[in-house]
Amino acid sequence: MRRKILAGNWKMHGLTVDLQEINEISKFSKSCETEIILFPPITLVSKISSSITESSLKLGAQNCHFNQAGAHTGEISAKMLTDIGLTHVILGHSERRTAHLETNEILREKIKAAWENDLTTIVCVGESAETAKNGLTDVFIQDQLTKTLPNHIKINRLIIAYEPIWAIGTGEVPSLKQIKKTHDLIRNLIKNNYGSLAANSIRIIYGGSLNQDNSKDIFSLPNVDGGLVGGASLTHTSFIPIISLLEMQPN
Ligand code: PGA
Repeated sequence: MRRKILAGNWKMHGLTVDLQEINEISKFSKSCETEIILFPPITLVSKISSSITESSLKLGAQNCHFNQAGAHTGEISAKMLTDIGLTHVILGHSERRTAHLETNEILREKIKAAWENDLTTIVCVGESAETAKNGLTDVFIQDQLTKTLPNHIKINRLIIAYEPIWAIGTGEVPSLKQIKKTHDLIRNLIKNNYGSLAANSIRIIYGGSLNQDNSKDIFSLPNVDGGLVGGASLTHTSFIPIISLLEMQPN
């Protein structure tokens, strides 16, 4: 049985005034079976009260460096994230792959650094609109995931997010058939490369324009173990309904 997950990626959003949103989400998460993880900007983390961090809501970062420490101006290491009590990190988000030129090889090193510091990673993969249009999604995802994941994986520290680039922040989502096909492909790839235990245990979540109108059908797909939400995670009024829809799904 895989526990459902809903992750909220705040990206470069969130000021002190928005801590009340985190408070509300935290209060709601107490009664949930679903694992709920928020990724606020790092600037807010120290302001989040210990009552929240001790509740069922988990907190993560949106990136980390692959070195433990050193002359890397502007960077934050996995060790530093663990040091401030974070438990998760998102790696390989398309915005970082594209705007920060993070290659599969760099990401593999970041994943290893995160695991060495006991962080659970949400590793993102996803194709561009052009790749999708050319019918090359399967080939692309297979190649990207194989090259991004280390040869030896930590099953209990890995979550995979399928996020088509063209669906992020656009209001567009792939058809249910397409989401199912890609999630099935990812689970098969995990099985072939890492074995049945890994394939049965690793959570595969969908991300890209999830909202309270489209998530119910997506969450009901057999290989979808939850979601990675951007825009709709910024307020409790838009995030909590999505959590509720996931809660309704049988495990
Ligand atoms: P979105 O972002 O929900 O705003 O499309 C998802 C993401 O980038 O993780």
